[in-house]
Amino acid sequence: MTQEQWSQVDEYIVKSLVPTDTALDAALSASAKAGLPAINVAPNQGKFLNLLASIQGARNILEIGTLGGYSTIWLARALPAGGRLVTLELDPKHAEVARQNLARAGVGEQVSIRVGRAADTLAALAKEAVAAFDFVFIDADKQSIPEYFEWALKLTRVGSVIVVDNVVRKGAVIDAASSDPNVQGVRRFNERLSNTPGVSATAIQTVGSKGYDGFSLIRVTGP
Ligand code: SAH
Ligand code: DHB
Ligand code: MG
Repeated sequence: MTQEQWSQVDEYIVKSLVPTDTALDAALSASAKAGLPAINVAPNQGKFLNLLASIQGARNILEIGTLGGYSTIWLARALPAGGRLVTLELDPKHAEVARQNLARAGVGEQVSIRVGRAADTLAALAKEAVAAFDFVFIDADKQSIPEYFEWALKLTRVGSVIVVDNVVRKGAVIDAASSDPNVQGVRRFNERLSNTPGVSATAIQTVGSKGYDGFSLIRVTGP
C-alpha cells in the first residue's frame, strides 16, 4: 500500500462525502499563497472533527495551533448559535492569514485568535473566568503536547472531549530511543495519559492524503 493509493482513496472519500466549499478551498489557497506549510488537517479529518464536536454538543471549543484556520473553520461550524471558539497561535503571520480565512468563512465573530506561546496564552486563559471548554483540539508543537494536555484537563469539565493530533508520526511513536523531540513529546504524553485518573482514552492510526499518522481521543470522565 502506497501514499498514492491513500491519496486516491481520500480523494474518493472527500468527493463522495465532504462537499467542496468555497470558503474552505479559499482558506487553503490563501494559506498556500502566504507560504504557510500544508500541515492542516485533511478535509475528511476536518469533517470528522466537525462531526465529533457536533455529537458532543460543544458550545465552547478550544484549539491549540491555528495555522491558517482550516481546522478552526471546521470546528467553528459545529457550534450552535452563541457558541464560542478560542484558538491559540504562536506566529502572528499565521494568525493574520487565519483571521482573513475565518472572516471569509463567516465564523470570524465566533472565533477569537490569541497570539503568543500557547504555554502563556493557556496560563492567561486559566486565570480568566472562562466557561469550561466542552471540546479541545491539541495541534501545535508536538514536544509540548504533555504540557497542553495538562492545561486541557484544567480547562475542561467532566464530559468534555479532548482530541490530540499527530500522535503516530509515521509509526515512529513506538521508538523509545527516538531522538525526535516530537516523538518524545507524544511518548511523554501517552505515559502521562495512561496514569491520569478520570479520563477514558484511545488512539487511532490513520492513512490518507496527509500520510501515516493518527490521533488520540479522550473523554473526561471524573475528577
Ligand atoms: N490546526 C491546524 C494546523 C496547526 S499546525 C489545522 O489543522 O488547520 C501547528 C500550528 O501551531 C502552527 O501554525 C504553529 O505556528 C503553531 N505553533 C507552534 N508552536 C506553538 C506554540 N508554542 N504556541 C502556539 N502555537 C504554536
Ligand atoms: C506537523 C504538524 C501537524 O499539526 C500536522 O498535522 C502534521 C505535521 C509538523 O509539524 O510537521
Ligand atoms: Mg496536526
